[in-house]
Amino acid sequence: MDISDASRTTTQTVTDYDRAKEVQAFDDTKAGVKGLVDAGIVNIPRIFIRPPEELVEELTSHQTNSQVPVIDLDGVRGNKLEEIVDQVRAAAETWGFFQVVNHGIPLNVLEEIIEGIRKFNEQDVELKKEFYTRDRARNVRFNSNFDLHYSRTANWRDTDAVREYIKNVTKLGETLFELLSLALGLKAEHLQEIGCPKEYTLPCHYYPSCPQPDLTLGATGHSDPSFLTILLQDQIGGLQVFHDNQWVGVQPIVGGLVVNIGDFLEVVSNDKFKSVNHRVVAGHVGPRVSVACFFMGHNAEIPKSYGPIKELTSEENPPIYRDFLPSECFSKRFSMAVDDNSLLHQLKL
Ligand code: OGA
Ligand code: NI
Repeated sequence: MDISDASRTTTQTVTDYDRAKEVQAFDDTKAGVKGLVDAGIVNIPRIFIRPPEELVEELTSHQTNSQVPVIDLDGVRGNKLEEIVDQVRAAAETWGFFQVVNHGIPLNVLEEIIEGIRKFNEQDVELKKEFYTRDRARNVRFNSNFDLHYSRTANWRDTDAVREYIKNVTKLGETLFELLSLALGLKAEHLQEIGCPKEYTLPCHYYPSCPQPDLTLGATGHSDPSFLTILLQDQIGGLQVFHDNQWVGVQPIVGGLVVNIGDFLEVVSNDKFKSVNHRVVAGHVGPRVSVACFFMGHNAEIPKSYGPIKELTSEENPPIYRDFLPSECFSKRFSMAVDDNSLLHQLKL
């Protein structure tokens, strides 16, 4: 499981200082960005500041009123199935994102894991340091700023709140894979049978309030190296999706969950479904807490390769991606520019 003390940095390409050294010094504090905030910093360290050209672009981009689709799952086991499948298909083909309500996970289960992540991050820093690692082999990892080293972060321990959340979110994941299978014109069990919901990771994020939010980001633009991601966010807001050439905020809904198509599903659907870039802006108001569940398919236990699903390809619509192993994709994550899904590019035939 992954928990990150996430805050922000970006893929700075040109630097006139020893960035690696400053990143390492920050990492060695093992206190994360929260450590900086707790120490009362007023100016954020330069390793977190975005390149000037990005900051200028941000100031000149305009706002939009469009909204990520919200899908009501009430009636999914009954007479609403067809309608819901149509909504899922439309969202997966255009936005790559949607929110779900009436998904069956009780509100207290959502609230308790958010509270658990907040408490973990706010406990004594000496206790947290015990979990601080970037070693993927450790089940529970606490870590910071995933893109500082272009590696994934995270976190923590087996509590009832976490177990209960996992039980519920994996069940919802199975339902969503059924809907996505139907939306692709396959039988309901197809994505489940090829193992899409088989393994998962649970990156949990804590974004402290930021003294200079306009200079940095909570999480830089990326797409997810997963089949599907289910994200629970608190009510602070800050998640944005890149749609129609602009960043669109994902409005928090009490009891709602955000769902997004990952790179692997874009590959197996042969580009029918879109894995879309998203990011988290920093804010003066915080902390913000979120928890993602990445469904990774068969990964460690049974190294199974995936490629475009046969039923979805034809002579007129030939496969455009090569087969891949989920495990080969992790090191490639985050080496991408905001508008360039590099993992997908690397898998293109
Ligand atoms: C992620 C992610 C968004 C958030 O974990 O990949 O995009 O709101 N998280 O924390
Ligand atoms: Ni993501």
